[in-house]
Amino acid sequence: AASDPDLVKRALAAKEKLGERVFVLGHHYQRDEVIEFADVTGDSFKLARDAAARPDAEYIVFCGVHFMAESADILTSPDQAVILPDLGAGCSMADMARLGQVEKAWEALSEAGVAEQVVPVTYMNSSADIKAFCGRHDGVVCTSSNAQSVLEWAFAQKEDAKVLFFPDQHLGRNTAVLKLGMSLDDCVVWDPHKPDGGLSAEELRAAKVILWKGHCSVHGRFSPDTIDDLRAEIPGVQILVHPECQHEVVLKADLVGSTEFIISTIEAAPAGSSWAIGTELNLVKRLAAAHPDKRIVFLDRTVCYCSTMNRIDLPHFVWALESLVEGQVVNRIEVDADTEHYAKLALQRMLDLPG
Ligand code: 13P
Ligand code: SF4
Repeated sequence: AASDPDLVKRALAAKEKLGERVFVLGHHYQRDEVIEFADVTGDSFKLARDAAARPDAEYIVFCGVHFMAESADILTSPDQAVILPDLGAGCSMADMARLGQVEKAWEALSEAGVAEQVVPVTYMNSSADIKAFCGRHDGVVCTSSNAQSVLEWAFAQKEDAKVLFFPDQHLGRNTAVLKLGMSLDDCVVWDPHKPDGGLSAEELRAAKVILWKGHCSVHGRFSPDTIDDLRAEIPGVQILVHPECQHEVVLKADLVGSTEFIISTIEAAPAGSSWAIGTELNLVKRLAAAHPDKRIVFLDRTVCYCSTMNRIDLPHFVWALESLVEGQVVNRIEVDADTEHYAKLALQRMLDLPG
């Protein structure tokens, strides 16, 4: 549906009044009505890098989800206020790994006598205290666009290194197996809801990758059967998916990569080509609208928006900006100094990797 013209006018007016004082970042899964006001758009990695691009901006309005706004706060100066227009914009995957649960897993690894060998790697989609845990234990953060180089780095850190990867088991498995050439048997799954993660000390000792039992509720829905159906329906269709999809889906796909990769692949695709894309629906619809010369369909029969990304809508965006115009900072995301220090170590290790 078209945006409310009054709200569009108000957003434009507030943004103009704030001028250089405000910097608006937008993740690719944001609604059209919001993304059109972003100064910079990107995937999680690009937005983490770009957050620090405007050190003079007093306010960073983050159109994305909570863990991204936390990372932006960590990577920007303390006088810059990071604002999340709706505090309800969380991430169900990030919520699947809590600090207390991760500490329990670490204890079990110590008891099994392998903690010394383990490098903890957290996906960007995690809370700041989890990133800080990784910072404290010589670990690192990764995103879907650099998971391969981060895992390679992690395995090079110690002799007989093992990786504890959280919260997304699918990204961890897809990267370990399809990019690093490991076998499925090298991976075990730690279930935080089972005693000892559901794993014996022998299993922990034998594993190379200990995957946290977490997943994305949006990407986890795509199924290998739909890929078969679409291939039968659309001759020559290419299947392009995000690595948060299940392993069976990624195995059947033609190409896999982060949202930036998905966008650049479609931009470079020849006119007349056909694509079925397995990622969040706002992005797929936008790509289809921007490339009418290519056939672009969604890799699912049902509607599949990320409900928390969608919470940032035009009314919330306008409210956040107009509050700033009135001198009131609303919904500020602030990570405490100690957590920030260690989370930054883990984030910086990622940002310092080449490529
Ligand atoms: P990227 O931004 O790394 O592609 O990740 C997708 C995602 O699910 C963000 O929440
Ligand atoms: Fe979290 Fe998945 Fe939504 Fe990304 S798409 S914010 S991983 S629930």
